[in-house]
Amino acid sequence: MNDNVITVDSLVKSFNGVVAVNDVSFDVSRGEIFGFLGPNGAGKTTTINILCTLLKPDSGRAFVNGYDVLKYKHEVRESIGLVFQDPSLDDRLTGWENLEFHAYVYHIPKTERKRRMIEVLDMVALTDRAHDLVRTYSGGMKRRLEIARGLLHYPHILFLDEPTIGLDPQTRNYIWNYIEDLKKREEITIFLTTHYMEEAEHCERIAIIDRGKIIAMDTPDNLKRMIGGDVIRLKTKDDNRARKEILSLFPQVEMLPDKDTISFKVSKGDEFIPPLIRGLGVEIISINLHRPTLDDVFLKLTGREIREEGMDETASLRFAPFGRPTRR
Ligand SMILES: Nc1ncnc2c1ncn2[C@@H]1O[C@H](COP(=O)(O)OP(=O)(O)OP(=O)(O)O)[C@@H](O)[C@H]1O
Ligand SMILES: [Mg+2]
Repeated sequence: MNDNVITVDSLVKSFNGVVAVNDVSFDVSRGEIFGFLGPNGAGKTTTINILCTLLKPDSGRAFVNGYDVLKYKHEVRESIGLVFQDPSLDDRLTGWENLEFHAYVYHIPKTERKRRMIEVLDMVALTDRAHDLVRTYSGGMKRRLEIARGLLHYPHILFLDEPTIGLDPQTRNYIWNYIEDLKKREEITIFLTTHYMEEAEHCERIAIIDRGKIIAMDTPDNLKRMIGGDVIRLKTKDDNRARKEILSLFPQVEMLPDKDTISFKVSKGDEFIPPLIRGLGVEIISINLHRPTLDDVFLKLTGREIREEGMDETASLRFAPFGRPTRR
């Protein structure tokens, strides 16, 4: 049975001649955590905006929860929750008031409102701070409130555009615990975008997007398998002799060009190290095991690193330690 809740077919969107989304197609099945991983300007937000009916594509089609995004805007909007990349809370209001406003916009029946607000605040552990002004919240608390707001009308699909951008690693983990918890408790599909590879690791499936095109799509493990093994780097008292010994003891290894260390590829690095230590007749100075990351996958596919491009200027301003948000 076809149980896709998102179907995207050949989407194209340009801005003033610049192609932001270039013939993108993919499906997301019910209950999946699906992520778009890509650097700044890859076309992630543009794709989300098309799926959420905020932007019209130049061509191509997209169905969300069975509804054509071009024809059934209202139905699509009712069935999704959306957490924008840019902060979108009113920080002059309390957390509770922000939720109340959303409940009103989404026509959640008055009799239901309070119960649902209590429920989502509890879900993101903000019950104690509900009646404080959002201005007094930390970055992580604000993000959690935005996620709570996105869940208030019980969406089938939750769109998260860079859910943890600009947050410290601890808060990121915290938010991910909630997302994973939520996924276990509710029948919900999650579509997210990120340029953090650690965040992409949480997804069941990811599409790597670069310059408007999907260049690979699979589970994180399968994508990393493309790299073809772990890399071991070794320093010894006599590298020339060690290199020869390794090749005769373990003819299956693939030596890599490296001037300063002995580098080679093996399929299971952790299992390879003990026999290597036992077998080698040269004293080992240091040994390092590198398992492929999604960064390596991106590098292999594009010749560039996701990180190289880092945050754009507005993003770094927005999250400058002493700065105020530049965009609302
Ligand atoms: N409203 C717009 N007008 C003009 N150009 C736009 C507009 N929105 C996006 N673009 C351009 O489209 C391209 C893709 O932008 P998009 O915001 O989708 O990227 P992204 O992958 O979300 O990047 P980031 O990681 O920085 O959020 C970029 O070149 C961007 O400058
Ligand atoms: Mg974006």
